[in-house]
Amino acid sequence: MNLISKPKNPEELSGSTGIPSDAVPVHVGIIMDGNGRWAKKRLMPRIFGHKRGADSVREVVTAAAQAGVKVLTLFAFSEENWGRPESEVSGLMGLFDTYLLREQAALKKQNIRLRTMGDLNRLPAQTGKLLTDACVNLSSCTGMILNLAVSYGARSEIVGAARQIAQMIREGVIDPGHVNDDLFSRCLQSDGLPDLDLLIRTSGELRLSNFMLWQASYAELYFTDVLWPDFGGKHFRQALTEYCARERRFGLVADLSMGQQASTDRAGETSC
Ligand code: FPP
Repeated sequence: MNLISKPKNPEELSGSTGIPSDAVPVHVGIIMDGNGRWAKKRLMPRIFGHKRGADSVREVVTAAAQAGVKVLTLFAFSEENWGRPESEVSGLMGLFDTYLLREQAALKKQNIRLRTMGDLNRLPAQTGKLLTDACVNLSSCTGMILNLAVSYGARSEIVGAARQIAQMIREGVIDPGHVNDDLFSRCLQSDGLPDLDLLIRTSGELRLSNFMLWQASYAELYFTDVLWPDFGGKHFRQALTEYCARERRFGLVADLSMGQQASTDRAGETSC
């Protein structure tokens, strides 16, 4: 695996997105923020912003799949969001239902698989069932994975992993000395998915807000002032282009990156 990736020269970029396929981030996460402010600016109720936000979801999912992203994780509803007014929460649940009912055929056509992270037991029965049914229905798709983080919080996820590991130790399945990054990752809800390469947050806020704290350890962070309902395929591709211009060092030094890059290029592995 390539540890250090150097920025691509813009002149080397090609293809419909302008980004070579080996430079596209494998896993992109998005904190979709700004729906409420978008609606407020138009003197509309917050749910109006969420509805327009669902249109952005449709557009960005397609843009990500077309760009060759392998996993797209969308922060759709946080654990903390349960504390919002009941009308907003139920409006959002209704939106998820509508999205799942309306978009499944289009997702299947694009060969997109669906999975989830978060505590689905807290969702209204209908929303939970629609989500699990959609995951089953799209399970044979082999293209991009759309991972919806719903009722999700990174700290709870990490605590859950710690509990599982403590239980394994108590049952004598493993020794404390066997606990490492790899085992810990496998006990997270993102088990089987690669770490985040790129984390996008819209609306000008500069926070992680309890989103994939473990998996974002070496993610490139991309913040934009654009509010989520205004964020579309064009903005997504801009984020990919900026990602490609970054030098990812993973705690190593730039000099080493050249040697690493040369050997990686020889091996034909993924690089950016
Ligand atoms: C944050 O903006 C957004 C949310 C809490 C909800 C995200 C939901 C959607 C984009 C709707 C559709 C999603 C799917 C997956 C179909 P905010 O309301 O906190 O905005 P604000 O900071 O401006 O108030």
